[in-house]
Amino acid sequence: MTIRVGIIGTGNIGTSHAANLARVVSGSSVSVVFDADAARAREVAGDFGARVAPTVIDVIEADDVDAVLIASPDAMHAEQALIAIAAGKPMLCEKPLAVGDVNARNVVDAEVAFGRRLIQVGFMRRFDPGYNRLKAELTASGIGEPLIVHNVHRNTSAPYGLRTEQTLTNMVTHEFDINRWLIGEELTSVMVLPGKRGPLTPEGESDPILVVLQSQTGVLIEVEAFCNAQYGYEVQCRVTGSRGQAVMGDGAWVTRSADFVRGTELPELWLGRFAEAYRMQLQSWIDSLKSGGPLLGASAWDGYAAAVISDRAIEAHRTGRRVDIELPAKPPLYC
Ligand SMILES: NC(=O)c1ccc[n+]([C@@H]2O[C@H](COP(=O)([O-])OP(=O)(O)OC[C@H]3O[C@@H](n4cnc5c(N)ncnc54)[C@H](O)[C@@H]3O)[C@@H](O)[C@H]2O)c1
Repeated sequence: MTIRVGIIGTGNIGTSHAANLARVVSGSSVSVVFDADAARAREVAGDFGARVAPTVIDVIEADDVDAVLIASPDAMHAEQALIAIAAGKPMLCEKPLAVGDVNARNVVDAEVAFGRRLIQVGFMRRFDPGYNRLKAELTASGIGEPLIVHNVHRNTSAPYGLRTEQTLTNMVTHEFDINRWLIGEELTSVMVLPGKRGPLTPEGESDPILVVLQSQTGVLIEVEAFCNAQYGYEVQCRVTGSRGQAVMGDGAWVTRSADFVRGTELPELWLGRFAEAYRMQLQSWIDSLKSGGPLLGASAWDGYAAAVISDRAIEAHRTGRRVDIELPAKPPLYC
């Protein structure tokens, strides 16, 4: 059995997912694609043996589409996810699930009304071998109880333009999710500290920034987000626990010494650093759809939680204050 995937949005990540689904992941094919840029859709369809649909709805409702992958710009995800829920089609929705907690909640409510989980959110770090090794250290025989987490998230350049609020909803949303997953606790407050403006930071915006969160039991979580770091793409996470420390570096496990240089190369984009996580995320999603087993990645509820934290972080940035984060009771569908 092959899961035939319809792809909505064939830009950077949509094309990368299409290549994985068509050529690397077992049990999947790409059958239909749509992009607002028709020429782009035709090119990707041609590369991966798919056909082009004229609208988003035509992808979702197509008889030869078993599951949908949403990789359009952030602001379109919620609306497209609602159409897929109405059609009863399972989907992998790229992060963020929605821009704005109200939009995210609408998606959660629609999925709850449908009565079955259809959505996996593309928080692929949950599948990354580095993050999984780090999580495995957070045990009594490992580094003990986590007390403080330092995260670094640097992009070579700002891919969608630089606006600080978008840094929170689009970029730091990865840390909102992965830190909830890593320590297994909800986050209860957030502060955003603007830093000194770098030479490429537009007037009125901040880059780099520091985000400081706290969890239910008081774990401090610090995130340095730097959109225009210029030197390469890099993600780090360091957890200090009650009996030790675990550090996840840039995911490169080999240090090369040659030509009188010792070091490692840095990728330019997230596609390099997280290649294995993207592949494993898709394989896990396809395996779940084929077996009818549970979706193992982030749920719509996790997407909603990240959207709530993003909105409170925006408030913290606007007011300069520490803002409390409260989540309503989790619906039984996600327990
Ligand atoms: N999980 C990750 O690590 C990760 C990495 C990169 C991007 N993303 C997410 O994936 C999404 C796409 O990012 P990208 O970097 O590929 O952006 P991109 O700009 O390269 O591609 C977006 C594509 O969507 C198309 N588009 C515009 N409006 C559309 C619509 N209404 N319906 C369908 N397609 C439409 C554009 O023409 C473009 O080809 C974003 O939401 C981004 O946050 C996630």
